Amino acid sequence: MTLSLATSYLGLALKNPVVASASPLNSKLDNIRRLEDAGAAAVVLPSLFQEQIEAEAEAHDTLMGAYANSSPEAQSYFPSSISSPYGLGPEHYLNFVRRARDAVAIPVIASLNGSSRAGWIDYAKRIEQAGAAAIELNMYHVPTDLLESGHDVEARYIDIVGAVCVSVALPIAIKLTPYLSSIGHFANRLVERGAAGLVLFNRLLQPDFDLVGLRLTDTLELSTPAELRLPLLWTAILAGRTEASLAASSGVASSADVVKCILAGADVAMTTSAVLHGGIDTVGTLVTGLEAWMEARDFANLNEMRGLLSWVHSKDRSIYTRANYLRILERYSAG
Ligand SMILES: Cc1cc2nc3c(=O)[nH]c(=O)nc-3n(C[C@H](O)[C@H](O)[C@H](O)COP(=O)(O)O)c2cc1C
Repeated sequence: MTLSLATSYLGLALKNPVVASASPLNSKLDNIRRLEDAGAAAVVLPSLFQEQIEAEAEAHDTLMGAYANSSPEAQSYFPSSISSPYGLGPEHYLNFVRRARDAVAIPVIASLNGSSRAGWIDYAKRIEQAGAAAIELNMYHVPTDLLESGHDVEARYIDIVGAVCVSVALPIAIKLTPYLSSIGHFANRLVERGAAGLVLFNRLLQPDFDLVGLRLTDTLELSTPAELRLPLLWTAILAGRTEASLAASSGVASSADVVKCILAGADVAMTTSAVLHGGIDTVGTLVTGLEAWMEARDFANLNEMRGLLSWVHSKDRSIYTRANYLRILERYSAG
């Protein structure tokens, strides 16, 4: 039996479903080549941030003697002296997209990261011109303003997605936060606005409390495999019920996790923490492990197994609902 791991994501033909998601590793050309060699089917570049673009525009305006206060947020939290968390300023980023595209045969997906509609959105066009295969949009936003309603938050996201989608022909994937009241409904609205894919989910980096210094700490903890359950749940609920491609993301650390993502109905599984932790070759173990699992189960291709455990194919949908919540609690109490 010839086994195929081929899949399609955002209309892109991929050799397998393992995608290296945005990470500092992917800001080096050599690492992108090594990820391709290790078996990654596509790479997502680290983000170009709204604050970087606005800071550059502001510096330009200042230089031209026409200082414009484009975004108070950008000035207070992201001094223009900090060009980028990855050393990739806006122009450098476009150049990097070009060089990455030329360096590897796998699709290179660029990432734009912003939380309000402004001039930075024009960069989608420039990224398209630079040759990215697609754009992932990360709208990392923490609604600390108690006057901002859930409706306002969704409207903010929809507004950005609509603006980006009309500005380019490239497929756009939305890296979604799980902190929404009705993910399925919102996902459909994003698709109506032109989103070609949904990345489930973005990971909210939460501060911890330092009890000695009595202050917040903001160190980054890599994810654990337990975090995959939320993406699995929502991938399974959405699979077969949305036109968007689905990428399961957060907590993918082993080939068993990749298998689970496909069984839930994902088109691809994305991984960052596992690769940062275990090295670039981790990607290869995810791919070969998936292959071995399929072989052992006599699956010839991903379509035969994709979504087998999704809502659409589930004989007992109560597993996804409140009934299951009660069952789980009951079983736990019964020991
Ligand atoms: C050090 C680090 C840097 C990251 N940088 C970005 C980024 O620039 N843009 C982005 O959308 N996500 C970024 N992410 C998030 C990852 O792409 C991914 O969504 C998240 O880590 C969850 O996946 P994982 O569990 O496989 O790590 C970063 C994650 C880490 C750990």
